[in-house]
Amino acid sequence: MSLYSRFILPKILDKSMSDPALKSIRRNLLANAAGNILEIGFGSGVNLPEYPASTKEITAVDTNPGFAKLINKQFASSSIKVNHVVASMENLPFPDATFDTVISTWTLCSVTDVDQALEEIKRVLKPEGKFLFIEHGLNNNKRTAWLQNATNWFSKLRYGGCNLNRQIPAILKRHDLAINEYREFDIAQKELLTRHTYQGIAHKI
Ligand SMILES: C[S@@+](CC[C@H](N)C(=O)[O-])C[C@H]1O[C@@H](n2cnc3c(N)ncnc32)[C@H](O)[C@@H]1O
Repeated sequence: MSLYSRFILPKILDKSMSDPALKSIRRNLLANAAGNILEIGFGSGVNLPEYPASTKEITAVDTNPGFAKLINKQFASSSIKVNHVVASMENLPFPDATFDTVISTWTLCSVTDVDQALEEIKRVLKPEGKFLFIEHGLNNNKRTAWLQNATNWFSKLRYGGCNLNRQIPAILKRHDLAINEYREFDIAQKELLTRHTYQGIAHKI
């Protein structure tokens, strides 16, 4: 891992992902979290304050150990017990059918092998488990989509592999994940290239 990814990127991501405009969107999705919960791509833990009051414990995974200091700040102000594991979502260190809920917020854009990550998510979900997601991706506006495709290389370089142009619902469908309670919208407060958002709850078919 580069020095940039380890020491600088976590601060940049923490700042951009702590945007107050995202709080209610996070809370709205996390209201569906229940049972044994896994959050992938935990980052600096900005979802923690948005979990339902009933949440006592979660498991969290992130591949970047550089978030340690920032996470400790979040832990100090939260009553939720977090079992934090530095691991890759392409290779989750949990047995099959462990979790009732798996959560990904603004994470599937960055994972290197999104297909392997989705197979892992399915593997660790219980048969009736739910995959809750909020992701940014390819805009429906053709000009914006063109710009996203043209500048994708720079986003990946600057933001830890973040792709601007993934079509997350199509990727979920090709992994036999059925999507319910789906909404697709633009977050006006976000930059043009990252504002197009997919939110939903997916189940294994
Ligand atoms: C844009 S941040 C989102 C952080 C957080 N989920 C949020 O909602 O603010 C993307 C996160 O995914 C993590 N990530 C990227 N690739 C990963 C992988 N293969 N396995 C686990 N985490 C990964 C990054 O380290 C980063 O913390």
